[in-house]
Amino acid sequence: MNVDTLILGAGAAGMMCAGQVPGRTLVVDHAAAPGEKIRISGGGRCNFTNTGTTPANFISENRHFAKSALARYTPRDFLALVERHGIAWHEKTLGQLFCDGKATQIVAMLRAEMARADLWLNTRVIEVAPGFRPDFRVVLERDGVRQTVQARNLVVATGGLSIPKMGATGLAYDLARQFGHKMTDTRPGLVPLTFPEGRFTDLAGVALPARVSVAKTGFDEALLFTHRGLSGPAVLQASSYWHEGAEIAVNLMPGQDVAAWLLAEKRASARKQLATVLAQRLPSRLADRLAGDWPAAPMADRSDAVLRALAQGLTDWRLKPSGTEGWRTAEVTRGGVDTRGLDSRTMMSGRQPGLYFIGECVDVTGWLGGYNFQWAWASAVAAAEGIAARR
Ligand code: FDA
Repeated sequence: MNVDTLILGAGAAGMMCAGQVPGRTLVVDHAAAPGEKIRISGGGRCNFTNTGTTPANFISENRHFAKSALARYTPRDFLALVERHGIAWHEKTLGQLFCDGKATQIVAMLRAEMARADLWLNTRVIEVAPGFRPDFRVVLERDGVRQTVQARNLVVATGGLSIPKMGATGLAYDLARQFGHKMTDTRPGLVPLTFPEGRFTDLAGVALPARVSVAKTGFDEALLFTHRGLSGPAVLQASSYWHEGAEIAVNLMPGQDVAAWLLAEKRASARKQLATVLAQRLPSRLADRLAGDWPAAPMADRSDAVLRALAQGLTDWRLKPSGTEGWRTAEVTRGGVDTRGLDSRTMMSGRQPGLYFIGECVDVTGWLGGYNFQWAWASAVAAAEGIAARR
C-alpha cells in the first residue's frame, strides 16, 4: 500500500495532524481506540488548552524551539475548532479551558476532522526503514497479518513514557535513535513526589493553597498531602523541575506577612495555644502537626525570636523528596527527542527528509493546565504545513 503520509500514533498530536495534512493519509495505533489519554484527561473533561500559553510555560533544553509552532497555531485557533464542532466549554482557573461535557467530545471532534484519513487500530509497528521514492517502508502487523506500507512522509506521534498501562512505549525514541537523532534525558513530569514511609501519613487528604518551589521556579496552587508524600497542582508543577537529591521549598502561607501576624497574635491572644492560632489560617490537622514540633506553651510564653523562626519555617519549609511516583502516574514525560535535530517551523528531522516528530515525544514539556495539549495541537499543525509545502 502507498500513502502520502503515514502517522504513527492516534493520540492528540497524531489525530490533529491527520486532520490537517493533505493527500492520502494512514494513521496507525497499537491501541484499540484512538485518543485514550484525551479521554481520561482533565478528570474526564479535557483541559484542552490554556488561553495564557506562552513559550515560558514549557520546559526544554532549547527554550526557543516551541516559539514558532506555538505562535502559528494558538489557543484561539483550537478554541475556534472546538466551537465549530459545537462543543460547550468553560474557563476554570488560570486560563484553563475545559469541556462542559465529556472529554470524548474532543476525541470525536478530532476523529471527524480526520475523516479523510484511514485509521488502523490494534496495529503494531514492526519495522521502519528508509526507502527511495517513496521515502519510507514500514512493516505493520494488523490483526496478526503483516503488511508493508510505503510512505513519502512519516510522522512519529507515539507520545512519551507516561502511564505504560495506557499503551505508552518508547517507540518514538527508538525511531529517533535509528535515524541518528540525539535524545535528552527523559524522566516523569507532572508527578506526585514521594517521601520516606510515614512522613505525611497523618496528614493524608489535607489540602491547602501553597507555593511550592524548586530553586527559583515556584507555583502558587493547591498542595495535597498523601499517604506516599505530596501531590496537588503546585507539587505536580514543581515536580517537572525537580531532580533526584534536590530540595523543594514549601510556603504554606504565600503572600502573607506571617511573622507580623504571629507577633500580633501573641499580643492579642496571649493565652491561646499555638495550634489554635495556626488553625485560624491552616487546616486544623496541619496546624496540630506543626505545633506538635514545639513544646506546648501559651503564645505569651514564646519569644519573638521563636515566633519569627516559626514564620520562617511556615513560609520556607525545606523538604527533600525521596523520589516520584514514576511513570505509573506521571502526566507527561520530561525530555525526549532533542530539538536540535528538528526544524522548529515544521518539526521535520534534519537527518532524514520526510520524517517528523510531534507532540510529547519531543523535548518540549508543558506545565499543568492545558499546555501539553496546546503543544500537541501546535506541533501537529506545524508538521502538517511542512508536509503540504513538501508536496
Ligand atoms: P498521546 O499519548 O496522546 O498519543 C500517543 C499514541 O501513540 C497513543 O494513542 C498510543 O496508543 C500510541 N502508541 C504508543 N506507542 C505505540 C506503538 N509502539 N505502536 C503504535 N502506537 C503506539 N494535557 C493537557 O494539556 N491537559 C489535560 O487535561 C491533561 N490531562 C492528562 C491526564 C492524564 C491522566 C495524563 C496521563 C495526561 C494528561 N495530559 C493533559 C497530557 C496529555 O495527555 C499529553 O501531553 C498528550 O496526550 C500528548 O499527545 P501525544 O499525541 O504526543 O501522545
